[in-house]
Amino acid sequence: MTETTDKSFQEIMKEKAAAIDEMLSAYIYHGQAVPDTITEAMRYSLLAGGKRLRPILMQETYRMFGGSGTQFIEPFMAAMEMIHTYSLVHDDLPAMDNDEYRRGRKTTWAVYGDAMGILAGDALLNAAYETALEVLGVCETPEQYRRVGWALKVLAHNAGIHGMVGGQVADIEAEQQTEPLTAEQIDYIHRNKTGALIEASMTIGAILAGASTEQGTEITRCALDIGIAFQIQDDILDVVGDSAELGKPVGSDAANGKQTYVTIHGLEHSRAEVERLSNEAIAILQKLPGDHSFLESLVRYLIDRRS
Ligand code: IPE
Ligand code: IPE
Ligand code: MG
Ligand code: MG
Ligand code: MG
Repeated sequence: MTETTDKSFQEIMKEKAAAIDEMLSAYIYHGQAVPDTITEAMRYSLLAGGKRLRPILMQETYRMFGGSGTQFIEPFMAAMEMIHTYSLVHDDLPAMDNDEYRRGRKTTWAVYGDAMGILAGDALLNAAYETALEVLGVCETPEQYRRVGWALKVLAHNAGIHGMVGGQVADIEAEQQTEPLTAEQIDYIHRNKTGALIEASMTIGAILAGASTEQGTEITRCALDIGIAFQIQDDILDVVGDSAELGKPVGSDAANGKQTYVTIHGLEHSRAEVERLSNEAIAILQKLPGDHSFLESLVRYLIDRRS
């Protein structure tokens, strides 16, 4: 990809993220009859300007499978970003990765204190389900109810112990392990702590657009490749990234004595694996019907991402 097309793709990603920021802001507003501190802390973390990768993947998968309009997909996009943000707010806590910098600003706990950091995460998680459930209000046909119920189940399943939370547990437990992590262990951690939400994002996009079960299975496979590649790249950037570009510290994994894909396999193999998985994801996209050009460009863009 040339630098010019690369730059314009980055611009497109920024525009999409800005549209998502606006939508998210409307979901969590001040003036609700609750203590100001909690809506402030929720907005502080949620509106700090993440890449919005998961909602973008969800929206683009929805479009690829012929989904139109916003009323079914937007609440799920917002819910996904809320769950992702809560996972980051908790991930940064002193009891977990103990990081003070995220999305280019102080972490939520560093500004509002540990207790409020925990509560803001809890609140975002609940707000996510409340937001996704709004879609029930626009369902008219039994098929729409069925698909929305299915999407809710995927969201809950992949966010919990069978997904992100399970992966975070294994990740934290692995910090205590002195012998090298096995390839299976690191795969389990990546698949779950990061792969699960990316997988849910694309799978939900497919479900809500009315994709067939076979197409859903293919997109789930594709998403898992993207998710694992994304976490390997995250591990790479923790070593060779630039903290100003990343908006979060480099060297956090080393400071926590964490074994990562990079410490186990080395930088060169890690980079090759990101590329291999991304190519596998693209090959799956190319076999699916619909216009996959945006998703394909996005996967290519992520291979060399610096933030
Ligand atoms: C960070 O996710 C945590 C991982 C799963 C690697 P992102 O890199 O998507 O973070 P934001 O949302 O852009 O801040
Ligand atoms: C992913 O792992 C964390 C979550 C699932 C929240 P990391 O701990 O590596 O994420 P960063 O590097 O802090 O964003
Ligand atoms: Mg972590
Ligand atoms: Mg972390
Ligand atoms: Mg990391």
